[in-house]
This record gives sequence, C-alpha cells and structure tokens, in this order.
Amino acid sequence: MEEKKRIFSGIQPSGALTIGNYLGAIQNWVKLQEDYQSIFCVVDMHALTVRQVPAELRRRTYETLAIYIASGIDPEKCTLFVQSHVPCHAELAWILNCYTMFGELSRMTQFKDKSAKHADNVNAGLFTYPSLMAADILLYQADLVPVGIDQKQHIELTRDVAERFNGIYGQTFTIPEGFIPENSKKIMSLSDPTKKMSKSDENPNGFVALLDDRDTIIRKLKRATTDSGSEVVFAEGKDGINNLINIYSCFSGKTIKEIEREFEGKGYGFFKAAVAETVADSLAPVHAEFDRLMADKPYLESVMKNGASQAFGMARKTLSKVYRKVGFTQI
Ligand code: TYM
Repeated sequence: MEEKKRIFSGIQPSGALTIGNYLGAIQNWVKLQEDYQSIFCVVDMHALTVRQVPAELRRRTYETLAIYIASGIDPEKCTLFVQSHVPCHAELAWILNCYTMFGELSRMTQFKDKSAKHADNVNAGLFTYPSLMAADILLYQADLVPVGIDQKQHIELTRDVAERFNGIYGQTFTIPEGFIPENSKKIMSLSDPTKKMSKSDENPNGFVALLDDRDTIIRKLKRATTDSGSEVVFAEGKDGINNLINIYSCFSGKTIKEIEREFEGKGYGFFKAAVAETVADSLAPVHAEFDRLMADKPYLESVMKNGASQAFGMARKTLSKVYRKVGFTQI
C-alpha cells in the first residue's frame, strides 16, 4: 500500500481563535485528515514573539487543543501536540537560522506588520519567527501545509531554505506545498472588510471568536460593515458582502451562485440575519464539545503527551539526519 502523504499545520495560542482561523485552517484540516497523515500543533513558542501573560498563554494552549478536537480533529487519526513539548523545533530552528538570510527575513510582511504594531518589542524572535515555522514543517517532512493566504510568504521561504539546504547537503527535506483554499483563504474583518480578520484585533466587533456565545455571534454578524447597496451579489467593490457570502458559503456548503439565487431581492438585513443564524448554529456543537473537553483536563493532557511522543519520534529522525549532515559529532 502506498504511504499517505503528510500534512502539518499549527495555530498560535495568542488570542481568542476566530472564525478566520476556523475557516482558513481548522475546517480544512478536518477534511484533509481522512486522506493524509496529519500532524497538528499548538505553536506556543511562536506566541512568545509577542508579550503574553503566562497564565493566559497556558489557558489558551489547552483551549486551542480543545478547539481542534471539538471541531472534529480526531486524536486517534492525527498527531496533536504542543510545540514546546518537542524540543527538536527549537533545535532545528537554530540550524535553519544559519541558512536563512537577513534579507529574506527582512522582506516578510508579517514581520513588518507586527514590528509596526509592537514597536516597543521588536525582538529577535519576531524577526526569526519564519525559521521556527520552517523547522515545524520540515521536521515532519510535510508534503502539504494547509493555511490561510497570510502564511503563503512563510511557506515560500520554507521551500527556499529547504532547497538551499538540500542543494548543499543532498536530499534532506521534503519540499512542502501550501494548501490555500480559494473561498476561505482570507476571511476579512467585520468592521473593516478591507483588513484581514485577526485574533489580535483590538476591536472585538471586527471578529467572531469561535467561543463567542450565540447572541454575540448574531449581534456581530448583523452589525457587519457593508456598502450602501442592497443586492446580495459577489462583486468587485463589495468587500463586506463578499466576505459575508464567503463566510456563509463555508458554513453552509452552498456555492456563491446558489447563495446569490437564495437571496435575490431579499436585501442585506435579511441576508445578514441568515448568515448570523447559520454561523451560530454551526458553532453550537463545537461549543458543547469544547465545554466537555475543558472539564476533562486529564484527557487533554493525555492527548498532549501521546502527541508529543509521536511527534518526537518523527522529528528526532529528521534532526539526527541534519546534525549528521552539517558535521556535528555524535556520541
Ligand atoms: P495564526 O495563528 O496567525 O493563524 C492560524 C491559521 O489561521 C489562518 N488564518 C486565517 N485564514 C483565513 N482568514 C483569516 N482571517 C485568517 N486568520 C488566520 C492562518 O493563515 C493560519 O493558517 N505562523 C502561523 C502558525 C504556524 C504554522 C506553522 C502554520 C507556526 N508554524 C507551521 C503552518 C505550519 C500563524 O501565525 O498562524
């Protein structure tokens, strides 16, 4: 039997996960886990590039893992773990730092955005963050990395660094491809639909958090910024409506054409209410399962432990190969 291809992806526990994270990443992971050997990580080490309150980081790490499982990621089929539990990530990141150029890292738009936003804390970790992300992916020899479009540049850098390393030392790393779905690759902010929906947005009306209660979800979606028109059609210049159509399409499984037909002549208010109900209904079972899981910390810890040991087994192989190739002595 042919071996399954591998996927790797992760989310930072740096804020309340949004429906952007859910649609851009988690929902696709759930579909892909059937056909790929899947490895999903809570990337807590990445979160440290921005100042975190320790107790909150700890709580969000559990919550993020619980969200993965509550959304349908099956710990029996996939490897689920927390990045800081597998030391190989930091170790390979150091090596890759030595094969990644200052100029390459300087061009990363996420670095530019985050250093503008956190001007008082432009730390070296924020700058070398893409090397840690490359280590995450390359340690597991991942073929595919399902992410939103904002991570595309980091995946391209990962490919460049992997090709450079393979070029010097011979075949070491699988060159990964991004898996970036068309209609959910960039869910936009509800308050400013020209900006990406972000878990670090200071305005909570800009995003729907996955754990927002039903009333909050409905209120935020009903208040979403739209244009002054009234026709529910996907078209240039209708950023707010286009975003709501995409969100509705991802949650309902309907195509854009079907949605346009469904809401023909019905106006924005009616449409927004339908989107709001659909999102709230879809997330209700996730909420229920999340609550159940959070009340069972020993179970979450057993998933973390199992996952870390599986991940370590895979990561260690790649890391020893790399150590040998670069000329480190072995004892
Ligand atoms: P993070 O934590 O910012 O986001 C996690 C995932 O959610 C996607 N995403 C979105 N997709 C669509 N619309 C949005 N508004 C939206 N906001 C976020 C992101 O594209 C991402 O897929 N560096 C990564 C985490 C990471 C990683 C990795 C990912 C670390 N190592 C290795 C893949 C492989 C990040 O900051 O994602």
